[in-house]
Amino acid sequence: MRFLPIIPLFASVVPAIWPKPIHYEYGQTILWVSKDVSVFWTSAGDYDRNFQGPTISSTPSGDEIVDFALQKTWEIIFEKSFVPWKLNPKSWQEPDPSEAVYITDIHLKLLKNDPENVAKPLAGEVDESYRLSLTTDGTVSISANSSIGLTRGLSTFTQLFYWHSQGGAYTPLAPVEIFDSPKFQHRGLNLDVSRNWFSVEDIKRTIDAVAYNKMNRFHLHITDSQSFPLEIPSLPELAEKGAYRPGLTYSPDNFKEIQYHAAIQGVELITEIDMPGHTSSIWFSYPELITAFNVQPNWNTYAAEPPSGTLKLNSTAVNNFLETLFKDLLPRVLPYSSYFHTGGDEVNKKAYETDETVQSSDFAVLQPLMQKFIDRNHKHVRSYNLTPIVWEEMLLDWDLDLGPDVIIQTWKSDSAVAKVVSKGHKALVGNYKYWYLDCGKGQWLDFDPSISSTFYPYNDYCAPFHNWRLMYSYDPLANIPPEHQHLVLGGEAHMWAEQTDPVNMDQAIWPRTSAAAEVLWSGAKDEYGRNRSQIDASPRLSEFRERLVAMGIAAEPIQMHYCTMNGTQCQLGYSMQGLDGNL
Ligand SMILES: *[C@@H]1O[C@H](CO)[C@@H](O)[C@H](O)[C@H]1NC(C)=O
Ligand SMILES: *[C@@H]1O[C@H](CO)[C@@H](O)[C@H](O)[C@H]1NC(C)=O
Ligand SMILES: *[C@@H]1O[C@H](CO)[C@@H](O)[C@H](O)[C@H]1NC(C)=O
Ligand SMILES: *[C@@H]1O[C@H](CO)[C@@H](O)[C@H](O)[C@H]1NC(C)=O
Repeated sequence: MRFLPIIPLFASVVPAIWPKPIHYEYGQTILWVSKDVSVFWTSAGDYDRNFQGPTISSTPSGDEIVDFALQKTWEIIFEKSFVPWKLNPKSWQEPDPSEAVYITDIHLKLLKNDPENVAKPLAGEVDESYRLSLTTDGTVSISANSSIGLTRGLSTFTQLFYWHSQGGAYTPLAPVEIFDSPKFQHRGLNLDVSRNWFSVEDIKRTIDAVAYNKMNRFHLHITDSQSFPLEIPSLPELAEKGAYRPGLTYSPDNFKEIQYHAAIQGVELITEIDMPGHTSSIWFSYPELITAFNVQPNWNTYAAEPPSGTLKLNSTAVNNFLETLFKDLLPRVLPYSSYFHTGGDEVNKKAYETDETVQSSDFAVLQPLMQKFIDRNHKHVRSYNLTPIVWEEMLLDWDLDLGPDVIIQTWKSDSAVAKVVSKGHKALVGNYKYWYLDCGKGQWLDFDPSISSTFYPYNDYCAPFHNWRLMYSYDPLANIPPEHQHLVLGGEAHMWAEQTDPVNMDQAIWPRTSAAAEVLWSGAKDEYGRNRSQIDASPRLSEFRERLVAMGIAAEPIQMHYCTMNGTQCQLGYSMQGLDGNL
């Protein structure tokens, strides 16, 4: 479908929906909206309209999700909006409020009953498409096949509005017709909350931004070698001793609150307990379960990061510990997710030489033990009706026999994605050369003078910094044969947090992750099969960044005002493509 602008080329407002809808027509009539506009919503079930807000103990219903989205819509339009001077030339004049014509009614139509798992679907179980129309005489209709589709439509609706400096919200874009639907079923951000500490509020704020980007997965890499902040009540010492500091932990109530905050916005939280590697923090409470703990010097022979250490691989004590952990945690995941991530990346074979239950680094010895380890863990996961996710190494390096249900999260290369799907497995993408947000900051290790010159100028392993254009150029389907493309469920951008904490997390994540969000929602190619154009994306991303900032997300600017005030001046090179990226 084509973009159909009915406005002159140098018009002042960019029709800036992010991520880009499949079909979008708009005009240039100004309509205002007031808080008391009539909203007609045909809800799916026996929804209590006097409902005082959901309880955070249970899986949210479709109706609760839409109710939350409506509140959020009003909050964004009337309290978290902005005057768009940065997106207009100096000569720009705001609309005259004395001539305001108002939107009269908003109709939300759920076209089908929600599937049972609407708040915690497996990939593909929920149709997120929506249709939005706004007529010049002020009628808005949003229809969708699921409550999640309605929330995606409402989220787009907020992006039609600007704040007026004299008060009030208006759209200059009526009439509007949008049909929209995501390209990929799994669109996520992975946040590592083990390397540095992040509060519940930091995580919730990030989930709000994830939802506003129409992403539908939030992967919480919640434990690692450096800290174990997740409280497991049946193993109380785990977080008491494993966290950086008493109190820097996620209690069961905190964990529930975070999961619920995601689910109510159509974002499924995926919890990862990475194992058997990346587990040294367990040593602080259960030293007998960990081998090769904190080897010094030369920890790097035994692990990718200090402190070294890994769960023993052939130990009944480890098995019992994990059984207790799963029995405690999985029932608390179940109301909010259909997935559980058991990690499996960067397992160091050498560490098992010091493991008295194995005493070998021979792959032939370790591989069958790893198979048993995974089989046992996934049996627990499946016994709660959860679908396991693992990192690619379990399949591609360890050559394990994983069930067809298991989703493989790739990170090393495009060819890893191709290999995973050629084996018939479902894959998530997130090539570290494109979608790792931690790259390009330089090393966090300190180098002894004896070796420091070897590492000069201290670049990190995945430098340079992956700017939004690079992230935007990543195609999840690159080199995947057509017959296997359906197995690429989508992907995630990754915020590994060695050098990121609440002070810089917003800038590190946003708006770069929005580039990944658009690739995952709209696809890496446009409707003509061409790579998406930066010329088209850049002004929209600048506007979306303003929306994130207005929401309280400290997203970085991608250009100076000079560029955003005139969408054509900061371009280098010209082709036959139009200003909106199309012919
Ligand atoms: C952008 O700059 C060009 C050249 O200076 C000018 O002709 C055009 O009117 C400007 N457009 C806007 C929207 O300011
Ligand atoms: C809803 O489902 C129907 C098919 O059942 C499809 O044609 C339509 O595009 C979907 N989305 C919307 C918003 O109607
Ligand atoms: C694993 O442990 C069992 C029971 O302790 C032992 O019999 C077996 O030899 C061990 N396997 C390896 C490869 O060390
Ligand atoms: C499109 O993007 C891919 C990367 O996904 C790149 O390899 C290719 O050269 C690009 N094609 C064009 C015409 O720029």
